[in-house]
Amino acid sequence: MNPPILVTGGAGYIGSHAAYTLLQAGYQPIILDTFIHHQPWPHAWAPVIKADCADEAALRAIFGQYPIAAVMHFAAYAQVGESVADPAKYYENNVFKTGKLLNIMREYGVDTFIFSSSCAVYGMPESLPMAENHPKNPLSPYGMSKLMVEAMLADFHRAYGLKFVALRYFNAAGAWPEVGLGEFHEPETHLIPLLLRAAQDQSPFSIFGTDWPTPDGTCVRDYLHVRDIADAHFLALRYLQNGGQSTSLNLGTGHGYSVRQMIEAVEQVYGQRIKVVERASRPGDPAALVANPAQARAILGWQPHFSDVQTIISSAHSHFCHTQFGGIQLQK
Ligand code: UFG
Repeated sequence: MNPPILVTGGAGYIGSHAAYTLLQAGYQPIILDTFIHHQPWPHAWAPVIKADCADEAALRAIFGQYPIAAVMHFAAYAQVGESVADPAKYYENNVFKTGKLLNIMREYGVDTFIFSSSCAVYGMPESLPMAENHPKNPLSPYGMSKLMVEAMLADFHRAYGLKFVALRYFNAAGAWPEVGLGEFHEPETHLIPLLLRAAQDQSPFSIFGTDWPTPDGTCVRDYLHVRDIADAHFLALRYLQNGGQSTSLNLGTGHGYSVRQMIEAVEQVYGQRIKVVERASRPGDPAALVANPAQARAILGWQPHFSDVQTIISSAHSHFCHTQFGGIQLQK
């Protein structure tokens, strides 16, 4: 039997891509997800348990039934603005529940953990590109919740021998339309899905801030294809299973694109202009976030294969078209 890997949040955007990548690599993903976002799950390729990632009874049933070799933990709230407005929700869900999951793992002797962290742990960049030793001053409770879990993992490693890799994603983007996977958030706040919607219905797209200290005045981000993120999870798992040291690693390309450059790229794929409205900057947005991904390359042997902007946008566009323009086909 292929080793079962528990994937919390495995029906979500990044978790589902990682779960499918595991399946392709010969593992058996076991998906645990609340489906609170009403995301569609038409796939029959993995067992799916509808429950919270800290649901004790569900976790005991899973660890009792399957010889789980490792946990990949994606389940979390991930909206920066919401976390500022309602920090309690973020600390409860992202931190306390992760602690509970880790404790139940200990009881069952499951000692391998891949954590979905974020570049939001760094806060305002002091230098670019950002390496793992960049100062960590999160600007939001979301970023702080990820940093707190990383601290907890380091303590569990020292005290209980937990083996972990925390992967700090920069901007996840793109889709895997060939297997029916892609981005779906409700409400949607991310740049590429919003640009695709604007191109489709000709509604104006809001640029948040045009006077940033960047070459064209708009924010710069490091967009990374979700399949490359998924590959890094598989490589991190293999690394720990081969005796690798616990660590935290950046996942990015090392190249930044401005909002205006992304608008132009979507216009090229779509073949039509997008109407834009220039608005004030969004609270908490740093001007530029670009990763130094050298450590992930050196330690995991990871290389992005899908993260050129054309592939990111055309895959997101195909998924968007297949799902009737961004997820109208909901299973409620
Ligand atoms: N943007 C717009 N208009 C929009 C939406 C986004 O101009 O309607 C801009 C944002 O200001 C930002 C860029 O597009 O400059 C990308 O925005 P996203 O919302 O797609 O992504 P963020 O960079 O805000 O968020 C990412 C991750 C978070 C992480 C955060 C850290 O998605 O998980 O970086 O700052 F916490």
